Order: sequence, then structure tokens, then C-alpha cells
Amino acid sequence: MSPINTSTVYLNGQYMPQDQALVPVTDRGFIFGDGIYEVIPVYGGRLFRLEEHLQRLSNSLAGVRIDNPLSNKEWSQTLHELVQKNGGGEQSVYLQITRGQAPRDHAFPDDTTPTVLISTSPLKAASTTLLEQGVSAITLEDIRWKYCHIKAIALLPNILLRQQAVDAGAQEAILIRAGLITEGAASNLFIVKDNTIITPAKGPFLLPGITRDLMLELAATNAMPYKETDITAAELFEADEIWLSSSTKEILSVTHLDDAAVGDGKPGPVWQRMHALYQAYKQALIAGTAN
Ligand code: PDD
Repeated sequence: MSPINTSTVYLNGQYMPQDQALVPVTDRGFIFGDGIYEVIPVYGGRLFRLEEHLQRLSNSLAGVRIDNPLSNKEWSQTLHELVQKNGGGEQSVYLQITRGQAPRDHAFPDDTTPTVLISTSPLKAASTTLLEQGVSAITLEDIRWKYCHIKAIALLPNILLRQQAVDAGAQEAILIRAGLITEGAASNLFIVKDNTIITPAKGPFLLPGITRDLMLELAATNAMPYKETDITAAELFEADEIWLSSSTKEILSVTHLDDAAVGDGKPGPVWQRMHALYQAYKQALIAGTAN
């Protein structure tokens, strides 16, 4: 069993120790996976790209037809308060909204109050080994549904895909739908070819990652050539560099794909540059000169 977690969580308007936060078994999140979520990193006590995360939260809610239970101002106040209660510093905030509790029936209940849970956990920086050696990934067929732009809590396909990668000794599964790369099981995907950074354009087959968007902004402001366009499986295998991005893992270099080395099997020079720009952005966030 995991140790008891006594950090503070927010559940339906109240702050309480995590081990005392309980949700009825009739909650549709528990019964159906009927809900959506966000993961927001915190650096130096500051919430990373909060406006963008709240916009994606609102889009996900609209996508599953749950009314947003709080205004952006209320979200911001609540999130900041919880981060402070849990000591500021580096944290990962998990925010989940389900359709609420009701007798089990697939169709929406007439009137339920959404369940809102916010918790935080320590955010660990990537180890030096991970940064120096990169990670390995395997390619798998993207077996998910057609609304992957919604950050839904129903993650069974992602879980099975990630576990298949772990069972194969890899850290991530890179997903292929109809011959095109979509993203990782819990990350966005980039390749570098002839110095150009390439990532699939946003659409229903991938999550619009907040880290992804910031990386493209950093590429634009630093005159690094980039394109948002389809990536075929063949292009993935011929890439000079492959990267994965997410709020919790930041930007990782994939140095082995399906057991073959990517490039020379070490994190490439374009990744080095993007990683450094990302770290500088985090420092600016901590100093209060970026959001
Ligand atoms: N997942 N694509 C998928 C399928 C994801 O689950 C995630 C992140 C991303 C990257 O999005 P962002 O840069 O906004 O974190 C892309 C989170 C971290 C999770 O499920 O824990």
C-alpha cells in the first residue's frame, strides 16, 4: 500500500488532508470515467501558463458538455491557495472535474453538481542520466478514440499503450494512426529533420499540449525553423532527432526507437538548444518576468 498522503487537497469547495477526501462510489468519474482533467506544473510557487491551462480546461469541459463550475478568477484563487497550503516550490497540480454523482445510467443525469478535485504532488526534475542519455520509445498503433483533443480522465487506451512500452523496456509509446504519427501515450511528439523542428498540427487526434505550444513560441522567438505538419512513420524512423514533451517531463530526447538508435543515439544539438531555452523560460517564470 502507498503511504498515507496528508498533503492538502481541494474537494468541492473545501480544503482537507488528502487521506480524508472521499467521493461517493456513485460518482460518474468512478463508474464511467466521465470527466476531464488538467495537470499544471508549478515552479518557484508560480503556476506555469495558467491562462492557457484554464482555456484548455474550459475547452475540455465544453467538449464533454459539463458546465464550468468556477470562473477563471475563482480557479486562479483556489489553485494559488492550494499551492501555498502545500508549500509552494516545485509541484504538479492535478485538477479533475467529473459530471458528479447519480444512479448509474449512461445518459446524463438531469441535475447533478460536478465533482471538483484538486491535488498536488512534488514535481521532480528530470535526472542528469535521463537528460544525458535520453529515453527509449516504441511505436504502437494509436487505438484511442477520435476526441483526443479532450483531456478526458478515461485513459484506459493510454494506460495500456504506456504499459506495453514499459513491458518492452521503453519509457513511452509513440502512436501511429493511419500511417501518421499522432503523439505519445502521455506526451506530444516532435522530430527534427535537417535542422527543422516538425510536430503534427493540432486536431482531434492529439492533445493540444501547453508545453508543445510554448516550445513553438520559443522556436519562433529564437529563429529556429519549425513546421506544424503531418509526420509519416517513415519520416519518424528517418528523423535526426525525436523529442517528447509534457508538463511533468518537460522535453525529453528519444535516443532509441524500437531498439534502433536515433541519430547517433545521444540527445541532439537542436534538443540541447530547446532544452536550454525551456530552462531559461522557467527561470523567467520564477523571477516573475514570464507566465
Ligand atoms: N499528460 N498528450 C497526451 C496524451 C498527454 O497525456 C499529455 C500530458 C500531453 C502533453 O500536454 P502538456 O504539455 O499540456 O502536459 C500530450 C499529462 C502530463 C498527464 O496525463 O499526466
